[in-house]
Amino acid sequence: MGKVVVIDHPLVMHKLSILRDKRTGTKEFRELVYELSILLGYEVTRELAVTETIVETPIGPAKCKTLEGKKLGVVPILRAGLGMVDGITSLLPAAKVGHIGLYRDPNTLKPVDYYSKLPSDVGERDIIIVDPMLATGGSAVAAIDVCKREGCKNIKLCNLIAAPEGIKVVQDAHPDVDIYLACIDEYLNDHGYIVPGLGDAGDRLFGTK
Ligand code: PRP
Ligand code: URA
Repeated sequence: MGKVVVIDHPLVMHKLSILRDKRTGTKEFRELVYELSILLGYEVTRELAVTETIVETPIGPAKCKTLEGKKLGVVPILRAGLGMVDGITSLLPAAKVGHIGLYRDPNTLKPVDYYSKLPSDVGERDIIIVDPMLATGGSAVAAIDVCKREGCKNIKLCNLIAAPEGIKVVQDAHPDVDIYLACIDEYLNDHGYIVPGLGDAGDRLFGTK
């Protein structure tokens, strides 16, 4: 079973509380998603392989470790996942970015697939899928399916807020995928919204409501 890592760092909790606030406007919401993505990205990348090297400091040789240089990919689930890309790629500037377009049918709550464009060598890359919200889990499972169909073997999922229901759905469908989160909320309401959550992440990020 993939692990679930909740990054309950004080900075994460503080920024998340402002993000949730219904009075927080689009500009600040966007900035917070960016900042939270960096903070979560720090943990998501914890297991990246490193290699030993010797660096000459002005005083003498220092045994150092540098990234091994494994190929990486960041895959946002459109739309709201876009808000997390710049934060993660600021940590991983060489990562390629793929896009998966999904929206939830408001009646069935099932994901509807409308776009997908991944790096041509995506199957050779370790992938971080990003999306602020993990609600029913349908969108995350569909995005992981797309990546696996293209040959991806090492996939991590990074969300800001998750419902317990969505975590279980992802773990059942993809037990090899680790999930990184800022918080696990209480439950899903009848409309599939996370309670208390933050509302509609895409609308808040892009100011579409
Ligand atoms: C939101 C969110 C996730 C999805 C989560 O996107 O960004 O992708 O819902 O819900 P799920 O776990 O139940 O699938 P939405 O479908 O609202 O599309 P949008 O980002 O284009 O607004
Ligand atoms: N998508 C969102 O943006 N928010 C939720 O609470 C659930 C799905």
